[in-house]
Amino acid sequence: MGKFYLTTAIDYVNAPPHLGHAYEKVCADVINRYQKMKGNDTFFCTGVDEHSLNVYRQARAKNISPKQYCDQMVPAFKQAWESLNIRYDRFIRTTDSDHVASVQKLLQEIYDNGDIYKDKYKGWYCVSCEAYLQESDLIDGKCPVHNREAEWLEEDNYFFRLSKYSEKILEHINRYKDFVTPEIRKNEIVNIIKSGLQDISISRASEGWGIALPFDPGQTIYVWIDALTNYISAAGFSDDGLKFGKLWPADLHIIGKDITRFHCIIWPAMLLSAGIKLPLRVYAHGFMTLEGKKMSKTENNFIDPKSIVEAAGSDAVRYFIIREMPYADDMDFTWDKFWMRYNTHLANDLGNLSSRVLSMVEKYCGSIVPGFGKMNSGNGGFQEAVFKAVNDYHRLMDDCQLSAALAAACELVTFANKYIEINQPWKLYKTGQQEKLDGALRNLLEGLKVISVLLHPFMPVASGKILESVGVGKDGETNDFSGIKTWGSLPEGGKIRNPGIIFPRKEKD
Ligand code: ME8
Repeated sequence: MGKFYLTTAIDYVNAPPHLGHAYEKVCADVINRYQKMKGNDTFFCTGVDEHSLNVYRQARAKNISPKQYCDQMVPAFKQAWESLNIRYDRFIRTTDSDHVASVQKLLQEIYDNGDIYKDKYKGWYCVSCEAYLQESDLIDGKCPVHNREAEWLEEDNYFFRLSKYSEKILEHINRYKDFVTPEIRKNEIVNIIKSGLQDISISRASEGWGIALPFDPGQTIYVWIDALTNYISAAGFSDDGLKFGKLWPADLHIIGKDITRFHCIIWPAMLLSAGIKLPLRVYAHGFMTLEGKKMSKTENNFIDPKSIVEAAGSDAVRYFIIREMPYADDMDFTWDKFWMRYNTHLANDLGNLSSRVLSMVEKYCGSIVPGFGKMNSGNGGFQEAVFKAVNDYHRLMDDCQLSAALAAACELVTFANKYIEINQPWKLYKTGQQEKLDGALRNLLEGLKVISVLLHPFMPVASGKILESVGVGKDGETNDFSGIKTWGSLPEGGKIRNPGIIFPRKEKD
């Protein structure tokens, strides 16, 4: 099996994470768990972006050092990811020493290759984007994303020859169809490149908070150049050649659609300049919005992940945000929609299916996995439904289409619930048709197992409980997809344990 190195964007630390940030980290966790189950040796990195002007100013306002300020903020991120059951391998901070060394090493290589030069910078800057803006980008002198006054900057800076790499990046994008996904983002990037790239300023003379340029320590490195480099830092670029050789190039960068320009133009150009391979894929997801407006810390328009996890549990939150967010578009969050989905999809459809099947096996088969009896040959299309769902699921998961993959798994839940209505096991019991009854329940148990394995990357807690109850895996863990490769692999005569209600119905509050 191969390796799979995946990363998320690293969040600014100047406010705790909101549900939009959580969405991205959950996506990455789902993909990571899926790749692990496929047998890949995975490495999942997330973290925080600390060297921003916002951090510097907030720390000054509080009369503490920027590093102290970051130290105070980091636990909120780690706690949020833990509460959502996100299992990363590395939580990188841009103040980590291996990252600092990695940024300096990369910049030195780019400099030595002749792609960095000194010049005067004059222009507008948005502190919230941490990015330069063109005069034409501004609306009434304000950044259009943050509705905040842009600041005029004028100083001697070092510049990176971004323009030199236009053709090479375009060529790469055209050659590797998955390099920028979804298609709509690829088209945006291609248009930006075709309209002409300009060299970019990559350092600041005026700022004391950041990583020093190795060839001119009086200047600090622009926060985006610093932040993008985290992806190779975590792979061992500065201090572990063996690890770097194994992990790089990254298989997947998951980011939001607002930062594709940095990841699909500036980042590849930096890597090309230093002679480092480009990541294989960038997936830019949409925004979570509230009443149509992007969830945002600066706009004070957000849902705190903690509040929703406390109300419904981590699995329900993971399910909802993944199921509702389309592959290439935005999703508007409402509590009504959340509770509606919770009660219909989780409490009714999945929760009921599992408790009905398990209590029927308890009641009609003495809690023992029955044989297929007379159902084996004409099993009401169960195998076909499973075959289709599993195929769709893998194709969609491999393409980062998580919402559709989750829907494919849930179609099996609908199928199984219908199967119960059609076959009416209670009638088979009453009329003494034990062999038929055994077969129907066996099919349902097999179906429940497949459903739980497919749902495992999304809802590890609930699916683990169901798997354990049908006798698969230890302590609710499942390691791979091998158990669903063949139909009917549950050990006949095995004991089932009913875990009770998995998703209790909730009244919205
Ligand atoms: O951009 N919905 O940090 P950040 C979905 N430090 N995703 C959202 C979102 C929303 N409402 N709001 C933010 C940065 N995000 C840089 C990244 S990476 C080298 C440096 C996503 O805290 C956003 O698109 O503003 C980004 O992918 C991530 O959260 C961090 O955003």
